[in-house]
Amino acid sequence: MATLVTGGAGYIGSHTVAALHDAGRDVVILDDFSNAARRAVDAIRSLTRPDLPLVEGDGGDPATLEAVFGGHRIESVVHFAARKSVAESVADPLGYYRSNLGSVVALAAAAIDRGVPRLVFSSSATVYGSASALPVTEDSPTVPENPYGETKLMGERILADAAAASEMSVILLRYFNPVGAHPSGLIGEDPSGEPANLVPRIMQVATGRSDRLEVFGADYSSVDGTAVRDYVHVMDLAEGHVAALDAGIAPARSRTYNLGTGSGTTVLQVLAAAAEVIGSPIPYEMAERRPGDVEASWADCTRAREELGWQARRDLTQMLADHWNFVRRHPDGYRH
Ligand code: UD1
Repeated sequence: MATLVTGGAGYIGSHTVAALHDAGRDVVILDDFSNAARRAVDAIRSLTRPDLPLVEGDGGDPATLEAVFGGHRIESVVHFAARKSVAESVADPLGYYRSNLGSVVALAAAAIDRGVPRLVFSSSATVYGSASALPVTEDSPTVPENPYGETKLMGERILADAAAASEMSVILLRYFNPVGAHPSGLIGEDPSGEPANLVPRIMQVATGRSDRLEVFGADYSSVDGTAVRDYVHVMDLAEGHVAALDAGIAPARSRTYNLGTGSGTTVLQVLAAAAEVIGSPIPYEMAERRPGDVEASWADCTRAREELGWQARRDLTQMLADHWNFVRRHPDGYRH
């Protein structure tokens, strides 16, 4: 019996495959490589097993789902595969709704048809929008501010409704800001195109691809005026999925969990920690606030600790050291 990981060649997906393997689970990867590298699968196989099964295709496609569920004995599903660029979702909302929600509906239907008892969904703290009260709990208001965030919230609702009308249980995991890489340096984040996220941007400066980082906003009300986020190690997130698959949630129920560290860090604090880890300063300049950015966001992770027995264990230095280790070994991402 295996766990199906859709988007298993992607950033969080690949680390989750490694963590599931370490926890003794068999895994089948489903990926269409629209935003992931085939070489990521080679790297995952070298970390896990050389014959780790891969089905190539889209989770929204019935023939692909038939190949997965017909060809493998699937006991649980972890669904990552989705488009994830905020800017792209604003430019192409229908493409995002079709792709991200079409795959949720098709996959949930296939899983329920086959009597799969558990599905874990990759959601995001982006569903909270500009949270009014911090830390953010699972009961904080959800007000997504772009189509990408809407697809995550709608995906959650679709799955909760589907669970309620079936014997399947669903766990919705809302990630804060993932950073880091597997300690081996064999798998990590390989953004396609120009990265937009903070740590990949810092790495571009560290490798000389950019001369400086723009710090978006110096007039927020934090200790140093820069925005605050809850950065969490991707291996901690990966282990959160293992805990979610093991959680005692009854059939037909769904439950939401924040996955973060529970503490906030400013952009300048991340920069200082990165300079320390990399061993050289990261040139930067202050810039305007980035449209759509929230001032501060960090998680209350009490529920995950109490109910899943999960807690982030790795600190910011570890996140940056592991991220840097992957980037140093793969300056051109998986192409190298
Ligand atoms: C962003 C997305 C969010 C998505 C998440 C995935 C937006 C508005 N939000 O979150 O939906 O789930 O990525 O990881 O795009 N920063 C700089 N300079 C840079 C890049 C970032 O100062 O070159 C700052 C940002 O202003 C922000 C912080 O660093 O304050 C973190 O930014 P980022 O890594 O892009 O994550 P989020 O904006 O939190």
